[in-house]
Amino acid sequence: MEFKQRHKMYIGLFHTHSALRYVVLLLLIVVIAKSLVGVVSKKPFEKGDEKLTLWLMIATHTQLLVGIFLYFVSPWVKFAASTMKDPQLRYWTVEHATIMLIAVVLITLARSTTKKLTGDNTKHKKVLIFTSIALVLILVGIIMSGRGILIPVRA
Ligand code: HEM
Repeated sequence: MEFKQRHKMYIGLFHTHSALRYVVLLLLIVVIAKSLVGVVSKKPFEKGDEKLTLWLMIATHTQLLVGIFLYFVSPWVKFAASTMKDPQLRYWTVEHATIMLIAVVLITLARSTTKKLTGDNTKHKKVLIFTSIALVLILVGIIMSGRGILIPVRA
């Protein structure tokens, strides 16, 4: 691929991926808050709760897909022996992808448990546990990158 074309693709994917974080974070906070209220107030697990876990999963899987494409065009991802010695290259090549993949799996599990489990309180509890760990991982991941959680920091 021509350099200019590749660069344009990188910029497009980068901004999409950067912006999608807000959707994922917002949905995570809403799901966590709703499931916490659900556990504490022993509320039924309603259709709306199920829909929210579905939207969270769709947003996260879209983020995953964009992230995978971005991975192969980003100048911060390098497959070289020296990568592990450079904290920035190591973060984007190994750590970011690994941390975020675990978070994606947890969000997927949160969704699938609501399908399989019975008992409203158990569903709220499982969603609360999986999504809370996912949120912590995502926040730690972004903090480690030094790019800023809410306001992107440019080098
Ligand atoms: C829930 C999942 C994810 C979230 C919330 C997330 C979040 C972010 C954020 C906030 C940035 C920095 C954007 C900026 O500086 O404005 C970023 C960059 C990036 N992410 Fe993700 N990410 C996720 C998943 C993934 C996955 C699974 C991969 C790879 C397989 C990936 C690969 C990348 C790459 C390559 C960059 C760009 C580095 C650069 O060129 O500057 N991300 N991500």
